[in-house]
Amino acid sequence: MEKAVDVRDVVKIFNKNFRALDGVSLEIESGSIFALLGPNGAGKTTLMRILTTQIGPSSGHAYVFGLDTVKEGSQVRKLISYVPQEMSVWTDISGYENLLIYSKIYGIPKEERNNIINGVLESMGLHDVSNRLVKTYSGGMIRRLEIACALLVRPKILFLDEPTIGLDPSARKVVWEKLKMFKKDYGTTIFFNTHYMDEAEIYSDLIAIINRGKIVTIGTSEELKHSVGGEILHFILSENGLHEDVLRELEGIEGIKDVVVSNSDVTFVVNDAEMILPHIMTFFNKKNIFVRRVSITKPTLDDVFLKYAGTRIDVSGRLSEVTHVRRMIRRG
Ligand SMILES: Nc1ncnc2c1ncn2[C@@H]1O[C@H](COP(=O)(O)OP(=O)(O)O)[C@@H](O)[C@H]1O
Ligand SMILES: [Mg+2]
Repeated sequence: MEKAVDVRDVVKIFNKNFRALDGVSLEIESGSIFALLGPNGAGKTTLMRILTTQIGPSSGHAYVFGLDTVKEGSQVRKLISYVPQEMSVWTDISGYENLLIYSKIYGIPKEERNNIINGVLESMGLHDVSNRLVKTYSGGMIRRLEIACALLVRPKILFLDEPTIGLDPSARKVVWEKLKMFKKDYGTTIFFNTHYMDEAEIYSDLIAIINRGKIVTIGTSEELKHSVGGEILHFILSENGLHEDVLRELEGIEGIKDVVVSNSDVTFVVNDAEMILPHIMTFFNKKNIFVRRVSITKPTLDDVFLKYAGTRIDVSGRLSEVTHVRRMIRRG
């Protein structure tokens, strides 16, 4: 695989002894969408600032497409784009004018600017509003404009720090639809930070959970949830209780870890509910046991976080603060 990101044992120390990153290692395949999930203060922005060459690690190394973020910073900067958590557009000019300023900053030749700007406006679904002042935009439109600015250079990898913070679910969905479409067209690798578990789960190929400067686990959302162990399959049968022999046979089916019977309710603890469900249904069928209802309960990423970090992600408090900050900047 081509590695878009390769982080090796990175430590970042602030104020002489505070370890914001405490030995982080990480590999991300080119062309994938990667989510760094963790609570506020976990170290997400710090890692992103290292990868985008804004700060160097105290020890360890970070590579982007094989280039050292410290020694080859200027080459790294040619391949990347970065959308910070804070507002990065001007509100008293139009969306188009923002893109024009950025295209000048990026050194895009004059004769190519209009084409490229129209392309990214189209990609982010902002064509119709491009001449409106940004201060009339919704939060979601502003975020899409910021992303459009980052896409002007057609980066090989796009870094997004909390891309949908403070947005309502439908605005978040639009942001991601546009991002996924762009990624499909250009094969861009996307690295995003988030403390929204559902966002990590729905939109990423790979999730790393970070807590107190350490990556506590990494995998696809399915792998992470499986690793918690124990999905619950709950049946309601049309009859009360199960015969002792039937119960014993059920317990013998591979993949069933536990069976609990209470009147017409039968609860199974299993490794993989979808896999085992057909077997159990066939079994009940053969025994002429009629199933009235089935439900599956799976561990959530919240359970995953609890297992590996020993605490739940607390999104209260700082979140509203951050939203407030984005609103303040927008008005200003
Ligand atoms: N420049 C800095 N100086 C001192 N402490 C910092 C600095 N940047 C971040 N930190 C601290 O490092 C920790 C991780 O911060 P950050 O990477 O911003 O977390 P996250 O993005 O996950 O919310 C926090 O405790 C934060 O206060
Ligand atoms: Mg942050």
